[in-house]
Amino acid sequence: MPEPGGFVVAVEYVSVDPAMRRWIAASPVGTAPVAIGAVMEAGAIGRVTASEHPGFAVGEHLYGAFGVQEYAASDGAGVTRLDPSLAPLTAYLGALGITGLTAYFGLLDVGRASAGDTVVVSAAAGAVGSVAGQIARIRGCRAIGIAGGPDKCRWLVDDLGFDAAVDYKAEDVARRLGELAPDGVDIFLDNVGGAILDAVLLHLARGARVVLSGGLSQYNADETRGPSNYLQLLGARASMIGFLTPDYAGRYPQARAELAGWLRDGRLISREKIIEGGVRAFPDALLKLYAGANLGKLIVAVAPPGDSPP
Ligand SMILES: NC(=O)c1ccc[n+]([C@@H]2O[C@H](COP(=O)([O-])OP(=O)(O)OC[C@H]3O[C@@H](n4cnc5c(N)ncnc54)[C@H](OP(=O)(O)O)[C@@H]3O)[C@@H](O)[C@H]2O)c1
Repeated sequence: MPEPGGFVVAVEYVSVDPAMRRWIAASPVGTAPVAIGAVMEAGAIGRVTASEHPGFAVGEHLYGAFGVQEYAASDGAGVTRLDPSLAPLTAYLGALGITGLTAYFGLLDVGRASAGDTVVVSAAAGAVGSVAGQIARIRGCRAIGIAGGPDKCRWLVDDLGFDAAVDYKAEDVARRLGELAPDGVDIFLDNVGGAILDAVLLHLARGARVVLSGGLSQYNADETRGPSNYLQLLGARASMIGFLTPDYAGRYPQARAELAGWLRDGRLISREKIIEGGVRAFPDALLKLYAGANLGKLIVAVAPPGDSPP
C-alpha cells in the first residue's frame, strides 16, 4: 500500500536513452553514477494501481522518472498525466516525449528554424532525429538526414519526407553534403559529434547555427574528441550552442499540443521500436541503441497494458 500522499504505478513502458550510458559511468564533472544494486534511472510510463494521493486516481496513465522496475512509488513530483485519447501511450516516449520535445525546441528555439533554411540532422533515423527532420519539413525547411545504412536512409526519404539522406557508413559525408547543400547548411542539429560534426562544419552557410543536442559517438569513449574544424565557425559567422530540453519544461504543454496536432493530421509520424521482455530485456536494449538497431524511439515493454498487479 502507498504512504499517505503517495501512489503506486505499475510500469508499462521504459524509455531507452543514449544518455543512460553516461549515467552509469564516472563523470568528468564528478557526478556519481547510478550505484550498483540501485534501480536504474529511466523515464517511464506507468498506470496507477493504488493511491492515497488526492490528485492521482487508480487507472490513470502517467509519465515520470519511475526507473527500470515493475512497480514504482511516487508522491507525484515531476509526474505528467497522459491522455491516451490524444495519441497511443508509447508516443509519449516518442514524438510527444522528451526526445520529440528535444527535436522541437532544438530546431525551433535554439536553431531558430524558418522556411527556406537548409537543415541537417545526425542520427536522423533515431528518436530525436526522425522527429527533427519532419518538423523541419513542416516548417518549410529543406531536411537532410545523416544515418547509418541504406534502409534507414530510404525510410527517411520515402516514409518521413526528408529531402535527402546521407549514409555515413557508406558515403563520404563531407563530399555528399557539398553536393546536397551547395549554398551551405543553415542549421545542424547534431546528435552525434565526432567525425560527423567535423564533416558538417565544412559546409556552414553564413550565420549558421550548430545546435548540440548530444554526442552519441562520444558517450562510450574514454576521451572525448572535440571538433577539429571548429574554425569554420569564424568565416561563416556561425554559432555553436548546446541546450538541455528540461530548461523548456514550462512550455512542454504548448509544444506537446502542437506535436499532437501534427500527429493527428498525419504530418508527423512517431515511430517506436518496442522490445518485449520486461526489466531483464533492458541491458540488451541499451546496447542495441549503440549498435544502431532502432528506427525511431527505443522502448522496453515492462508489463502488458491492462495487466493487474499481484
Ligand atoms: N539535449 C537534450 O536535452 C537531449 C535530450 C534527449 C536526447 N538528447 C540526445 O539526442 C541524441 C539522440 O538521442 P535519441 O534518444 O534520439 O537516440 P537515437 O538516435 O534513437 O538512437 C541512437 C542512434 O544513433 C546512432 N548512433 C549510435 N552510435 C553512433 C555513433 N557512434 N556514431 C553515429 N551514430 C551513432 C544509431 O543510428 P545509425 O544506425 O544511424 O548509426 C542509433 O540508432 C543523443 O545524443 C542524446 O543524448 C539530448
